[in-house]
Amino acid sequence: MKNNLANIKKAKMLLDSGYCIAIPTETVYGLAANAYSNTAVKKIYKLKKRPKNNPAIVHYSSLKQLKSDCDLNKNFYLLYKKLCPGPITFVLKLKKKSRISKFVNNKKNTLAVRFPKNNLSKKLLNLLDYPLAAPSANITKKISAVSADDVKDEFGKKIKFILDGGRSKIGLESTIINLIKTPQILRLGGTEISKINKILKTKLKFRKNKKKMISPGQSKVHYSPGIPIRLNAKSIKLNEAFIAIKKRKFSDKNFYYLSKNKNLKEAAKNLYKTMRIIKNKNYKSIAIEKIPNKGFGLAINDRLIRASKK
Ligand code: TXA
Ligand code: MG
Repeated sequence: MKNNLANIKKAKMLLDSGYCIAIPTETVYGLAANAYSNTAVKKIYKLKKRPKNNPAIVHYSSLKQLKSDCDLNKNFYLLYKKLCPGPITFVLKLKKKSRISKFVNNKKNTLAVRFPKNNLSKKLLNLLDYPLAAPSANITKKISAVSADDVKDEFGKKIKFILDGGRSKIGLESTIINLIKTPQILRLGGTEISKINKILKTKLKFRKNKKKMISPGQSKVHYSPGIPIRLNAKSIKLNEAFIAIKKRKFSDKNFYYLSKNKNLKEAAKNLYKTMRIIKNKNYKSIAIEKIPNKGFGLAINDRLIRASKK
């Protein structure tokens, strides 16, 4: 459904009635429902085939509403002031009197929250008197959707309403930071850690915590196109699609590239899109060139490693 007021109102009506719909955000599309309603949230988990113990991110447009659900602290305000709305998610302490459905966060006392920047989702959230629980709009473990067509590709007729906000500008999920005690990065994503470090005057790094799965969604297998992926590839095999970081002058039809000139932000934006195009052709596998492990390359490599796990 295209971006116009009538469709935003229709989206509101469906959400008010407890349905789950797909919404655009600047990172990836989300599968959204009223975060205060048990029955609405359960629909997301069923459609996504998502395990109940993997909590969802709740989307807000107003600080006032967030205050009624979570305890906010100094680090939150520092980051909120500079980075919101935008591609960053905060894990905060849930208030005891919060109305958030227990199905959103698996009865934990923490909540992941974010303020999306996409205009359409902002307009929609402004009309609602509840926040939206919205995990990425893809079947669990598959590639995230960065356009309305991608959402259709994932869910087919099972999804009844997709608010079409065009192609997601960032194309990769939000960065997740735990702010409950000492700040800790839980997922690499659309906000570079260097930006966060500048604001908090600290030197955070992304460390995989192997012993304790703090973010259950960060399991090894994820973002999978359903065919094997070879990382750091230098050559190509028969029936394989090749993804390069940079465009080349001469190329075959099995050649894909993530950016015109090795720009890692542009490459991040094109990653899921390119994997989905390849998935929908008859290739037997994907070979991908080495991606520099800096800036947005860190997030790209994180996704590629998970996508390549069987
Ligand atoms: O960009 C994004 O963040 C997108 C758009 C739609 O907003 N959403 C998204 O949601 O990526 P999802 O559900 O695919 O990923 C959410 C991640 C999961 O890895 C989940 O485990 C983690 O956030 N998470 C959610 N609540 C948490 C909590 N209370 N503590 C720690 N991790 C949490
Ligand atoms: Mg996801």
